[in-house]
Amino acid sequence: LSQIEVKLGDIPEGKNVTFKWRGKPLFVRHRTEKEIAAEEAVNIGELRDPQHDKERVQNPKWVIVLGVCTHLGCVPIANAGDYGGYYCPCHGSHYDASGRIRKGPAPLNLEVPYYEFPDEDSVVVG
Ligand code: FES
Repeated sequence: LSQIEVKLGDIPEGKNVTFKWRGKPLFVRHRTEKEIAAEEAVNIGELRDPQHDKERVQNPKWVIVLGVCTHLGCVPIANAGDYGGYYCPCHGSHYDASGRIRKGPAPLNLEVPYYEFPDEDSVVVG
């Protein structure tokens, strides 16, 4: 299927759920207020792949990214690593809770796919 619909009410705050979309892992993360504030405050001048959090999310509560490490394609682990977002165990890449690369060999942020929110409780990706 080229599109996937995810029911947001099933994902508690602070949790990241992995779906399968177009043969790849898709992460849908319900961020906490603390995570949102921390990611919005990051100085983008310090980033390897400079993107403000606002460029990566449509609604700050929801981070929607491909679960594919931009180094060599392993699946990162959620809520792990030095920046609390995602950690790729293959070669040690650390991503923040916006999916931005912060440390380790990966060159780019986790990719944000095309998505829309048709209503308050769902997101359609693709
Ligand atoms: Fe993720 Fe190498 S594939 S760090």
